Amino acid sequence: MKPNLHASNDSDGALNVLITGAAGGMCRGINKRLAVAGHTLLCVDLDLERCQEAVDELRSEGFAAHAFAADVTQQDDVDRLRNDVKETVGEIHALVNAAGILDRKMLLDHDVKSFSKAIDINLVGPFALIRAFAGDFLTANWGRIINVSSIAGTTGYPYPSYAASKAGLSNLTRSLLMDFWGTGITVNSVCPGVVDTPMVIQEVRDQVPTKVPTGRIVDPDEIGALIAFLLTEDARSINGADLVIDGGATQVFRLFDPAKS
Ligand SMILES: NC(=O)c1ccc[n+]([C@@H]2O[C@H](COP(=O)([O-])OP(=O)(O)OC[C@H]3O[C@@H](n4cnc5c(N)ncnc54)[C@H](O)[C@@H]3O)[C@@H](O)[C@H]2O)c1
Repeated sequence: MKPNLHASNDSDGALNVLITGAAGGMCRGINKRLAVAGHTLLCVDLDLERCQEAVDELRSEGFAAHAFAADVTQQDDVDRLRNDVKETVGEIHALVNAAGILDRKMLLDHDVKSFSKAIDINLVGPFALIRAFAGDFLTANWGRIINVSSIAGTTGYPYPSYAASKAGLSNLTRSLLMDFWGTGITVNSVCPGVVDTPMVIQEVRDQVPTKVPTGRIVDPDEIGALIAFLLTEDARSINGADLVIDGGATQVFRLFDPAKS
């Protein structure tokens, strides 16, 4: 049923939160923030070993977390996951779709198979998870769905499978508002810029001082803090948004290097 949520730091607002890609670099920050907020984490990843490591780390600090293996692109895996999660905690109250891949291929290096793989993981996967749990959210008349998109989905980007999949994910987010009209269910996209995870190559890290107005790379913990807020009742009117968290990178277009001017 709908959890009793009153305010951002209300302990009654402890939720069961399912997070995909939970073994990844960004989720290390997201997991910790949500755990500290008192939520129980259902951590899902293709890589069960690393997912279990992440969960063990959380448990060693006294937080509630469970590890599950699933490929978000496989309907059978998603169905099995839904059953396993129900057996473990009952209903989930929030879903964070963070599993994703960045295939650094420009147009001519791609073929249909490689392009489709990115669309499957970054867009079809989140759809499959949302579809699997939407009925439960509707029954409870409450829920939080957060899709981890990217600024690459809001601007042109050299790697088209990534950009197209994330643009699709952001628009999937907006499109679902019709399905949840008049309920306590919100759906939002978080669009990070350059975040300090292994996904980011050194060449991009080196450009941060001249391409990002804050002059710094985003910490995964900051993404976690934003998502933790979106899970609160205080965030109930934030719905269908692309929440950009990029230090201002997409708001500026630099033709010169300020460090050299
Ligand atoms: N790192 C950044 O700078 C950045 C910026 C913007 C957006 N993002 C997005 O944030 C999310 C997390 O990125 P990250 O940096 O932690 O990447 P990461 O590669 O460290 O983590 C991604 C996780 O997703 C899992 N995964 C991949 N395919 C899967 C599948 N089919 N089923 C289940 N799990 C699967 C991987 O095993 C991995 O643990 C991604 O969606 C990414 O596109 C990252």
